[in-house]
Amino acid sequence: MSDLMIASGIKKSYHEAGGELHVLRGLDLTIREGETLAVVGPSGVGKSTLLHTLGLLDTATSGSIIYDGTELSSASERHRARLRNVEFGFVFQFYHLLPELNALENVVLPAMMRCTVFGWSRRRATLRARAEELLDDVGLSERWTHKPSELSGGEQQRVAIARALVNEPRIVFCDEPTGNLDEKTSDHIHDLLWTINQKTGTTFVVVTHDETLASRCDRIAEMHRGKIESVKSNRQ
Ligand SMILES: Nc1ncnc2c1ncn2[C@@H]1O[C@H](COP(=O)(O)OP(=O)(O)OP(=O)(O)O)[C@@H](O)[C@H]1O
Ligand SMILES: [Mg+2]
Repeated sequence: MSDLMIASGIKKSYHEAGGELHVLRGLDLTIREGETLAVVGPSGVGKSTLLHTLGLLDTATSGSIIYDGTELSSASERHRARLRNVEFGFVFQFYHLLPELNALENVVLPAMMRCTVFGWSRRRATLRARAEELLDDVGLSERWTHKPSELSGGEQQRVAIARALVNEPRIVFCDEPTGNLDEKTSDHIHDLLWTINQKTGTTFVVVTHDETLASRCDRIAEMHRGKIESVKSNRQ
């Protein structure tokens, strides 16, 4: 497996009334293309901060992120936005679906945002068909006209996973994807993530407190005091 993302010396601090809060303290982590990588650690250690930093939803105070051979800290905002929209996908604990849109519209949205007005009118049918196919893949073909409030938590997370995949990203960043679901529903979501990983080779970085989920990943990175303390392989 080749290295897809190499984060070195990542520091991230927040300004607080009483001074600086140093969350990431010179963290190093390499993500390999095609792997499933779990990030674990106690609450408040900086896992979400790390995920947002790697996914370019937030910027590090200092350090280097090399993605696919390119240093991102000096990249233009336009380039970072393209990566966020096209190469990266995101799945959050509380789904973050738009309540006014139905399942299909939620899935299509990131694809639509990539298009110009002209491009959208030309590609609309194709992208809609792709969204329908993704909803079918996640087992929701019967429910794509439903709005989030009409779907269970597990179903909403399936929609969020389909949405994360619509632009065929190379990496999907998941922040406690099953943190709000019961055990059985979580198992279905885990199966879904592995099936996608196996079928498409998409890389998954999954922050989780769920030991079953972590144990099913190729590797587990353990965070402690703002750094990755150890990386353990679950494969021979
Ligand atoms: N925008 C912010 N401003 C100030 N402090 C923040 C901000 N975001 C996070 N923090 C603080 O940074 C620390 C790490 O937060 P983070 O959300 O990354 O932890 P976490 O490991 O994801 O925790 P959990 O497992 O509970 O989700 C916490 O002390 C948190 O309060
Ligand atoms: Mg968190």
